[in-house]
Amino acid sequence: MKTITIILAILIAVAFVGNVMAVPGGKTVEFAGGDQGKVVFDGKTHADKGNKCNDCHPKLFQMKKGTLKMTKADHVPGKLCGTCHDGTKAFAQDEANCAKCHKK
Ligand code: HEC
Ligand code: HEC
Ligand code: HEC
Repeated sequence: MKTITIILAILIAVAFVGNVMAVPGGKTVEFAGGDQGKVVFDGKTHADKGNKCNDCHPKLFQMKKGTLKMTKADHVPGKLCGTCHDGTKAFAQDEANCAKCHKK
């Protein structure tokens, strides 16, 4: 199952090289986000910043909406969104930036 997922991800990644979509059609994915407010992940802004499919798939996130579960304790550098949102590659997941991801 895992192998199939990886092979699929690679095939899709290859098919989309040079494309400007990070979720199909440059769409967005929305997460509930608890009491901090919902989080909208925008595929297009991420692709525009030069992120490639395999920077995120399949190691960090599945190519399936609604599979990511992230608790407050997962908001650490090097994990999930924090792989890049560590204050170096992209803005950190600290008090100053909660509202950059969470909208009430
Ligand atoms: C910066 C990270 C990132 C990049 C780069 C990225 N994705 Fe995603 N992608 C995500 C996240 C996060 C989700 C949502 C996963 C979830 O909801 O569990 C997602 C979801 C998806 C989905 C499922 C959408 C749905 O409606 O079910 C597909 C398909 C997908 N991505 C394909 C791609 C392809 C193809 C590329 C390259 C062109 C790409 N992604 C690049 C982070 C990324
Ligand atoms: C592969 C690296 C990478 C990953 C993984 C990643 N991001 Fe980003 N993200 C970036 C970069 C680069 C920017 C540009 C902002 C900056 O330079 O600080 C950005 C910008 C953003 C922005 C501001 C622009 C916009 O789209 O509104 C939001 C919000 C955001 N990311 C949310 C997320 C969320 C939520 C996740 C996890 C589901 C995530 N990101 C995972 C690299 C990443
Ligand atoms: C890079 C984007 C990003 C930043 C910055 C960020 N978060 Fe989140 N946060 C997320 C995502 C994605 C989720 C997952 C939402 C879900 O699963 O419904 C989440 C979920 C949460 C949840 C809900 C966890 C749960 O168990 O339901 C809380 C609480 C939360 N964040 C607090 C914060 C606080 C406080 C800050 C600032 C210190 C912050 N977040 C900064 C992306 C971010």
